[in-house]
Amino acid sequence: MKIIRTPREMQQAAQALRRAGKTIGFVPTMGFLHEGHLSLIRIARERADVLVASIFVNPTQFGPGEDLDAYPRDFERDERLCCEEGVDLLFYPTPETMYLEGHSTWVEEEALSGMLCGAARPVHFRGVCTVVTKLLNLVLPDFMVLGEKDAQQLRVLRRMVRNLNIPVDVVSGPTVREADGLAMSSRNKYLSPEERKEAICLFQGLGKAKEQFSAGERSADVLTASVRDVIEKTSGTIDYIEVVDDENLQRIKVLEKPALIALAVKFSGVRLIDNAVLGK
Ligand code: PAJ
Repeated sequence: MKIIRTPREMQQAAQALRRAGKTIGFVPTMGFLHEGHLSLIRIARERADVLVASIFVNPTQFGPGEDLDAYPRDFERDERLCCEEGVDLLFYPTPETMYLEGHSTWVEEEALSGMLCGAARPVHFRGVCTVVTKLLNLVLPDFMVLGEKDAQQLRVLRRMVRNLNIPVDVVSGPTVREADGLAMSSRNKYLSPEERKEAICLFQGLGKAKEQFSAGERSADVLTASVRDVIEKTSGTIDYIEVVDDENLQRIKVLEKPALIALAVKFSGVRLIDNAVLGK
């Protein structure tokens, strides 16, 4: 496995691979890898001649007061895991080379980015769209693999790729969970032992909503209320619980076509998200 640290080198390597007719698969990450990331790497490994993963804690997707500085990092461990999973090129740039002084160009998706996580994190998706566009221009992949855990991010990036005619296929991978159901996340390690136990409430709440949906319940208010009941029994603070249209992310009252039920809950500053698709 080769580690590439500068955007210029990454792009040159990718151009050479494209000229040689290789299929490039790409998994973008912010590092501190867990089984969720590794599952995406495995999906990409199966389909690509050359597998590129990136590790970049992108400063522009963190708002003021968010956890940019505290975001967990362990490059040595990440490097070892990538090597074990058969990554060919590991792109590990610095913020200074990714955002040269005077950076003033942004990619903004306007229809899907303002709700759910975007409501509490107003610059988040602009940062995600901008960095992923940059990464795609550097890695030149045939396809990239993203996790369904970040349901809104997946939909925003699919829309961006379509709207901007970016020549990349977006492949998604299912959410990988701990044995008790908690969705794996780099942020889980900041939960206290007590909070870690309580944090399964996101999964349990979604499970309850899924059961009710299977039993015929179609009212978004009823479904969100039952998730809320589960969360409110814990020390978690609800940021949002919403039922939205699976495609346009608009809030819905009655579930008539595939819907996304998504929630964000904070445990003393650690923000956890989870979601489920209903009716697909
Ligand atoms: P990060 O949070 O590191 O996640 C990288 C990828 O792993 C994303 O596609 C995310 O959806 C996926 N992922 C995270 N937890 C997962 C889980 N438990 N199961 C399956 N997939 C999971 O998302 C980002 O980084 C950044 O916003 C990025 C796209 C890299 C842009 O900076």
